[in-house]
Amino acid sequence: MPRTEFIATGFYVPPRVVTNDELAGMMDTSDEWITQRSGIKTRRWVEPGTTCAAVAFEATTTALTRAGMKAADLDCIVFATTTPDHFFPGNGVYLQRMLGIPGIPALDVRDQCSGFIYGLSVADAWIRTGQYRRILLVGAEIQSPGLDLTTAGRDTAVLFGDGAGVAILGPTDADRGVLSTHLYADGQHAEKLWMDGPGVSHVPWISSELIAAGKHRVRMEGREVFKHASTCMPQSVMTALHANGLTPADITLLIPHQANLRISEMVQKQLGLRDDQVVNNIQKYGNTTAASIPIALDEAIADGRLKRGDLLVLTAFGSGFTWASAAIRW
Ligand code: ACO
Repeated sequence: MPRTEFIATGFYVPPRVVTNDELAGMMDTSDEWITQRSGIKTRRWVEPGTTCAAVAFEATTTALTRAGMKAADLDCIVFATTTPDHFFPGNGVYLQRMLGIPGIPALDVRDQCSGFIYGLSVADAWIRTGQYRRILLVGAEIQSPGLDLTTAGRDTAVLFGDGAGVAILGPTDADRGVLSTHLYADGQHAEKLWMDGPGVSHVPWISSELIAAGKHRVRMEGREVFKHASTCMPQSVMTALHANGLTPADITLLIPHQANLRISEMVQKQLGLRDDQVVNNIQKYGNTTAASIPIALDEAIADGRLKRGDLLVLTAFGSGFTWASAAIRW
């Protein structure tokens, strides 16, 4: 059976840089508070009206060019996002339309911060069984229009940013590629990090009352998220390592979902990793949910931090709660 290799990656973030000081002009917060609690210094925001599919398209164009491929060479799209352009249909078909490749399947993955690894797991299974040979895996988010930019929303508004990252995946018979993926969820904690509406649990699905009650805003029990993320992410990394007879010392690069620099530091400490083994870029982009891992991966490749034969490990944690890991021989 072949393994799944990363043929090319690409990412896109909008040009508008939003600093902590700019946020402090909108709500009662400060550069010091944000930096201390999250590590974030800047994030990118799109111009109003930019769609999630559009930022994914930009990242895809880069990856296709690097792969020396045309959109028509793709035979499947797997699109992970928390912030779809519409209630339905999903973003995958909009990206497919922009790419001009009708007919191929477009799967939407809704596992929030874990979406990229969940999508990787599905794509990996399809590639290994030969169902598809050129899968475009996308993690893309437009968070900025949903943020509550008043003091009431400051606990989450300062964390999130916009962006997209993609990978083109295909089969290889060489001794490299995805070694294993590990997926988890625990719906007991669904309301600890969520957006209540719009949704069919409300009649009607959306109303001025729903909006007045702020149910269309992200709600987060920050300390609970912190506690679970900093436990589940290292556990999932250890599971991935054990499954392949490896130890933390074997890791060349760990790319944790960029939730919060403090969480990444906890994960690093628990696994006993050196600074050079862990990728952090949340300082620049904030938390871009499903896009954070592919953006960080693309930057790590560009920085020369991954070479053929290196061991790459991914881990994520997010709303659901969902969490996941993957071990990849580069
Ligand atoms: N600026 C200034 N003060 C703030 C801000 C802000 N942006 N946000 C909250 N505060 C205030 C609170 O109102 C509170 O004030 P009070 O003591 O007067 O009531 C005080 O700061 C402390 O609030 P806590 O919520 O207790 O702050 P905490 O130390 O827990 O830090 C944080 C909050 C950073 C969110 C933390 O809980 C955390 O890191 N949680 C992890 C969640 C996370 O990073 N999520 C990312 C998205 S989810 C994901 O990707 C997995």
